[in-house]
Formats: sequence, structure tokens, C-alpha cells
Amino acid sequence: MNMKGRSFLTLKDYTREEIEYLLELAAKLKEKKKNGFLGKSLKGKNIALIFEKPSTRTRCSFTIGCLDEGGHPEYLGREDIQLGHKESIEDTARVLGRMFDGIEFRGYSHESVEKLAKYSGVPVWNGLTDSYHPTQILADFLTLKEQFGKLEGLKLVYAGDGRNNMANSLIIGASKMGINITILSPKKLWPNDELISHCMEYANKSGSKIELTENVDDVVGADVIYTDVWCSMGEEDLAAERIKLLKPYQVNDNLLTMTGKPHTIVLHCLPAVKGNEITYEVFERFSKVIFDQAENRMHTIKAIMVATLGNE
Ligand code: CP
Ligand code: NVA
Repeated sequence: MNMKGRSFLTLKDYTREEIEYLLELAAKLKEKKKNGFLGKSLKGKNIALIFEKPSTRTRCSFTIGCLDEGGHPEYLGREDIQLGHKESIEDTARVLGRMFDGIEFRGYSHESVEKLAKYSGVPVWNGLTDSYHPTQILADFLTLKEQFGKLEGLKLVYAGDGRNNMANSLIIGASKMGINITILSPKKLWPNDELISHCMEYANKSGSKIELTENVDDVVGADVIYTDVWCSMGEEDLAAERIKLLKPYQVNDNLLTMTGKPHTIVLHCLPAVKGNEITYEVFERFSKVIFDQAENRMHTIKAIMVATLGNE
């Protein structure tokens, strides 16, 4: 499958087959690394890593993924470059496009990553915006394939802030891949109607079911419970209001019992605020799979760079 030269801004732009291909490539690269072999697919490629917001997993995944394949990553933090302060995004994009072969962007507005892709002329990868976090979804789905051997037909319940970048991206990914997704969240925090109507179209094609609910009883039958922080980066001021709204949706022993399934697993994109969206006990019980998920960020991000920019 040829994805050379393409950006990765949201999963809306990728077909089910292309997502499947990226997951298979990531599994192969993971296996290869575990066997002690690295590649040269990004040899001679320079990659810019722009971070307006902080990051542990995404930054390290792009850095290590790039180095493992022989490329050169260059970290450009908020205070390091002119982007958005003294220079427009369009101009920064045109400069970086003359020097780099690929650009990762993490920041606030989704429009920024779209502009970078439009004006740089090189592949741009979205490392998280206020609206979407698509590289995370590939790691989540690779983890699900490792756990269940399949994606199609699984029931994934996302409990928490139903309109943040993670919820938005999970609905897109799940509805494309035939995963049944339930957004368990107060109505005030449900995803927007436009996104849902797009995802309904994907779901009609894949056979996935999309459910939005305020009722915790709807967790029944969940193979996976997924959660994320109640206040995303930039929303820290809303903590008191969010805790009040989201307390009934905490991932705890009671919610797990309510699935009625003995093998339900819990995923978290991390970083976690234990005691808020997830209890300490549940987090620790599922820590093995949660840290598999974190490790899989690297293998899947490497796959995206190799597929869209690699020489092999
Ligand atoms: N899950 C995730 O994107 O983590 P970071 O914010 O540490 O990159
Ligand atoms: N929703 C979270 C995801 C962190 C990976 C945030 O944007 O802060």
C-alpha cells in the first residue's frame, strides 16, 4: 500500500484498509525491534518535532521511532521557534518545508496543523490538537489486537469527557474499524453532531454501532473500558466543574463489575489523574496492558513515519 507523501491529521482521511495496513506494519516493526533489528527506512531524513504543549509519550515515540530507522529528529519547543509569536504558521511551514522531510505538530488549534500540512509541502503528523489525537488511536488498536486478536465486534466504552480529542478520535477510529463504541458521559460533554453524523456514515459501512449515553448501566457487555483525564491540557481551570460532572463516570471496581464480563480490560492514553477518572486500584490492576499501550505509541508512530516517508 502506498502512502508516501501523505499527512496524518485525523483518521477521517484514512480508509479501514489503510488503518489495518498501518497496524500490521507497526506489529512487524515491533517484532523486528524485539528481535534486535533496526531499520534504515528514514536514513537521510530530517524530522521536525514541534511541541506547543508538553508531552512524554508522543515526543519520545517520534524521537526513538525516527532514530531507530536512521533519521534525525529535531525538537522545537514553544519557546524555541517563532511559530505563532513573531511569524505566521504559513511562513514557518514554508521555512521548515525547505529544510525538513517531515513535521510532527502538537498544539492547540487543529487549524494550525492543517496549515502546516498545506504550506510546508512535506508530510505532517498530528501529535495532538485540541480536537484530535489520531496517533494515539493506532497504539490503542494495536493493543486491542494483541489482547483480543481482532477489532471487529468488540464493545469499547469510553467513560469521561466525551468531547475531548481522545473521544473524538476514538469514535472516528472505532466506527471505521467495526468496533462498537459507547460514549458514556454527561450530555453536556457529548461529541458534536457534525462529527457524529460523519461517524454514522463510517459505521454504516463497517457495521459498527455508536451509542451516546448518560446511563452507567450501558457499560454492560464492554470488552474494553477506556478513559482519559477530565481536564485536557489547557482546561485546567475547569477542574472543579468537571470533577462534579464526571464523578459518576469514574472507572472503578463498581463500573467494572457492571460490565458482566470477566475479561473486560481497561485502557488509558495517559497521563492519568488517579483518584479522578480512574481509581488507584483499577489503574494498578490493568497497568500491564496500559503500559503496553504506552509502548505501542512508539511502534505505531514509527509505522506512520515509515509508511508516509520511508525509503523501503
Ligand atoms: N498519550 C499521550 O499523548 O501522552 P503524552 O502527552 O505524554 O505525549
Ligand atoms: N485529552 C488529553 C490527552 C492527553 C494525551 C489532553 O489533551 O490533555
